[in-house]
Amino acid sequence: MTGGAGFIGSSFVRFLEASTEHEVVVLDALTYAGDPSTLEGLPADRVRLVVGDIADDELVDALVAEADAVVHFAAESHNDNSLADPTPFVRTNLVGTFTLLEAARRHRTRFHHISTDEVYGDLALEDPAKFTPETPYNPSSPYSATKAGSDLLVRAWVRSFGLEATISNCSNNYGPRQHVEKLIPRQITNVLDGVRPRLYGTGENVRDWIHADDHSAAVLRILESGRIGETYLIGADGERSNLEVVQSILRLMGWEPDAFDHVRDRPGHDLRYAIDASKLREELGWTPAYADFEAGLAATIDWYRANEAWWRPQKAEAEAKYARAGH
Ligand code: NAD
Ligand code: DAU
Repeated sequence: MTGGAGFIGSSFVRFLEASTEHEVVVLDALTYAGDPSTLEGLPADRVRLVVGDIADDELVDALVAEADAVVHFAAESHNDNSLADPTPFVRTNLVGTFTLLEAARRHRTRFHHISTDEVYGDLALEDPAKFTPETPYNPSSPYSATKAGSDLLVRAWVRSFGLEATISNCSNNYGPRQHVEKLIPRQITNVLDGVRPRLYGTGENVRDWIHADDHSAAVLRILESGRIGETYLIGADGERSNLEVVQSILRLMGWEPDAFDHVRDRPGHDLRYAIDASKLREELGWTPAYADFEAGLAATIDWYRANEAWWRPQKAEAEAKYARAGH
């Protein structure tokens, strides 16, 4: 698998280790978002980390030659970074995915591609509609455009070369070990530092939250039982405005509900995401284990409280980037 030293990839490695007998080779470049400590405590005879780039043809070929399946999580994943500099997004998300696909084609290896609901663009705030696998692609940011492009590469490799691939598009993840640049860990660690949370624009933008472990369980289900060539949407009916999320964090951490500031909005900021996961639920029998967002959020807050040594080294650089962008 790729990207296993990141937030969701490491959740997936832990999930595989706990619930299957599979051996996992993690290919990860350990960018600013990758941290080998996310894999600490896992048995060395089941999980091996190879530090390297998914766009490195030779390395990728050698690893794919030995693999029964490739599960592709590695990406540049943060919208704000893609607005500051799209270059690594094109290289990793497009060229890196292409490199993996070519190796999987040569070795006829089963491939699962991890993608995002952002490829579909956004929905209106009051619209009852949700994204389905038939929603037309309409990405807004350099990040989501490169993820959309990588999905289309996978689809073309299935159709033109008979690659045995599946794709999943998931909504916003939360949980332990998420980089502090993302909304939820940024605001939790701000409050721990005595700093008021920051809401982009009005704060009415809606995201559809799912725990990373539920995402992992869905990916394993698709890998084992998904139909080749199909796209599955992953979501847990967790729609909430950013204002609601920040106010939940404030309440759970014992702060006043208005102890936040509005800051400069994200250019091109998508209004609302919402996933219709009925295909995944009905065809593959998946259901989320974390049905209660507030309980999952409280556990996530506890994790950041107890693991300052993990997030502290990321915090100053992430906040310096935000200061430059006016966020
Ligand atoms: P992350 O930024 O936390 O981790 C990305 C990992 O990929 C890091 O370990 C990094 O070192 C590695 N990586 C980056 N470039 C690489 C390269 N060129 N070669 C090898 N490794 C490289 O990301 P995440 O939030 O865990 O997201 C994982 C995947 O899930 C991504 O494909 C993302 O698009 C997708 N996704 C994320 C979310 C979310 O809410 N975070 C939701 C839906 C889909
Ligand atoms: O929908 C899936 C996507 O979710 C994934 O593909 C991305 O990899 C992941 O980063 C996430 O993208 P978002 O842009 O939605 O996540 P982010 O945590 O950056 O922001 C969530 C919302 O919160 C968004 O509307 C912007 C807003 N925000 C963000 C930060 C960092 C704030 O209001 N204040 C902040 O400080």
